[in-house]
Amino acid sequence: MNKRRGSGNRHEGGLAPGASTDRTSVICPLLTMRQPIRRLIARKLGLLRFRMMSMEQVFLYIWRNQNWGSSETVSGHGSTFAQTGMLRAALPGLFKKLGTKVLLDIACGEYNWMSAIRPSVDSYIGADIVPGLIDENQIRHGDRQTQFICLDITRDLLPNADVAFCRDCLVHLSFRDIGKTLKNLKRSKIEYVVTTTFPATTANSDIVTGDWRPLNVEAAPLRFPKPIKIISEGTKSYGEKCMGVWRTSDLSVREGEHLTSTLTRWQAAGSQ
Ligand SMILES: C[S@@+](CC[C@H](N)C(=O)[O-])C[C@H]1O[C@@H](n2cnc3c(N)ncnc32)[C@H](O)[C@@H]1O
Repeated sequence: MNKRRGSGNRHEGGLAPGASTDRTSVICPLLTMRQPIRRLIARKLGLLRFRMMSMEQVFLYIWRNQNWGSSETVSGHGSTFAQTGMLRAALPGLFKKLGTKVLLDIACGEYNWMSAIRPSVDSYIGADIVPGLIDENQIRHGDRQTQFICLDITRDLLPNADVAFCRDCLVHLSFRDIGKTLKNLKRSKIEYVVTTTFPATTANSDIVTGDWRPLNVEAAPLRFPKPIKIISEGTKSYGEKCMGVWRTSDLSVREGEHLTSTLTRWQAAGSQ
C-alpha cells in the first residue's frame, strides 16, 4: 500500500480498470495471475522484515512507507471519517457517562477522525510510538487542551487519565506484546480501557507485531471479562467491529503475566 493522498485510486486484490484490454493479459492470462502471488510474497517478506525489527522500527517503517495509507489518512482505511461515523456519534455520550475529563488516546495515529470528538473532553492526550507522527500532530493540532506525546503502550509509564482509548492498536500486536500492554495498563492510574474487539471471532491467531488480525479480546488467550459497555462501529467485514469498555481493575495482572509466560513456554517448545 503506497501513499495515495488525493489520488483516490485503489485497486486492492484486482486489476485496475482497463487492464482487461492489456495485450499481455490477453496473450497470457497466467501473467495477470502473478500479481496476487507477487503481493503474497511481498507480504511474507515484509513480515519477515518486521520479525527482525524493534517495535518502534516496525511502526516507523509502516508510517514512513505509508503502508496503511488510504487516500484520506496514513492511519489506514479503518481511520477514515466514513468508517468512524457510528463511533463518532456514540463517543461523546460514552465519555460523558464514564466521567472523562482527561482522555488518553493511546495509539492515536494521525488524529484524523478523532479531531471531531476532541471537544467532548476537557483534556486530550494523543500518544503514539512514532515520533514523527507525534511531532506532526502537535504542530497541526496541539493547543492548551490537546497535546501529543510519544510513548510505547507496552512499556512506558502512561500519563494519568480517566480513560485509555486504544483503538486499532492491539489488533496489530503479537500476543506477547498484548500481554505487556495489559501489564502496563494495569500499573497506570487509568480507570477505564476502551479497546477494539471483534466479538464474532472465535479463535484468535498470533501475529508478528505490525501485521493485523481481527481480535476478540474475550476469547483465548486474552479472556477479558464481559465488557461493561460495547459500541458497534457498524462495519462487518470480519464480523462486527466494536469498541468494548472495561474497568482497568477488571483486567487482572495475572492474565497478562499468564499470557506472557504461557507464550514464552509455547515459543520455547516450538523452537526446540
Ligand atoms: C491503525 S493506527 C490506529 C490509529 C487510531 N487509533 C485510529 O483509530 O485512527 C495504529 C497506531 O498504533 C500505533 N502503535 C502501534 N504500536 C504502538 C505502541 N506499542 N505504542 C503506541 N502506539 C503504537 C501505530 O504507530 C499507529 O499509529
